[in-house]
Amino acid sequence: MANPISFFQLNTGAKIPSVALGTWQSDPGLVGEAVATAIKVGYRHIDCAQVYGNDKEIGLVLKKLFEDGVVKREDLWITSKLWCTDHAPEDVPVALDRTLRDLQLDYIDLYLIHWPVRMKKGSVGFKPENLVQPDIPSTWKALEALYDAGKTRAIGVSNFSSKKLEDLIKVARVPPAVIQVECHPSWQQTKLHAFCKSNGVHLSAYSPLGSPGTTWLKSDVLKNPILVTVAEKLGKTPAQVALRWGLQMGHSVLPKSTNEARIKENFDVFDWSIPEDLFTKFSEIEQASKTD
Ligand code: A2P
Repeated sequence: MANPISFFQLNTGAKIPSVALGTWQSDPGLVGEAVATAIKVGYRHIDCAQVYGNDKEIGLVLKKLFEDGVVKREDLWITSKLWCTDHAPEDVPVALDRTLRDLQLDYIDLYLIHWPVRMKKGSVGFKPENLVQPDIPSTWKALEALYDAGKTRAIGVSNFSSKKLEDLIKVARVPPAVIQVECHPSWQQTKLHAFCKSNGVHLSAYSPLGSPGTTWLKSDVLKNPILVTVAEKLGKTPAQVALRWGLQMGHSVLPKSTNEARIKENFDVFDWSIPEDLFTKFSEIEQASKTD
């Protein structure tokens, strides 16, 4: 049987479940049901962020699933992210406490700096007038304190370039365990992938399907001819092949869906694999960005 790749081991020793339910752009009213469906299907990893605005709904559902004995807290992996308005060291523990309160949890498994961008406290949107100079080392120290206190079991970053990640590693007492970035067959993050591999940082891929339906991407990842051909050869959907490609690259993948059939489809990626001769074809896919 193919290697199922259910988990990846982090530099903390913890095992991160390889397929998560993404909750970015999951509408209020739908996200709770999606989380419940996913956990019943077998997902053990939910990717959240304070700025997604849906933590309270997710928290209510998690509480019910724990009470009903569907899943135990210790068997779940919950990721959340520090928003750009909360980078000041004194604001970091307050932000995590708010997230814990909304999710109705005592700890999370992974806390990430959402962007290497700092915004004025209370401001909304990446507008030039809201931006202030980030001080990542001081924000990171505040995350390290939360890690020491056991409020988060691992810490990391999101949307950092290889250079920014390298700069952080140089000053970090607790090295980042995870970097979460957009990553899919049309944006393979080749440079960052290599950097992570040689520095023991795990890469988590958001938008692993290329966020079909969004307008800002030039390429429609799931219609890529190489991906479609591989999917036809394997009798799988392009989405499943995109996810399996991520797993075989060594990345955890965070597909978002609020649709039951697609939540199931996206989890059906463990008992088969992309053979080597087809896997190598992915290096021929034209890349949407080279800025990793
Ligand atoms: P929906 O929530 O209606 O399923 P990404 O995770 O790359 O950001 O992609 C998320 C988008 O892809 C959502 O619009 C989601 O819509 C859609 N999607 C999720 N799973 C699949 C799938 N298996 N096939 C096609 N589209 C999918």
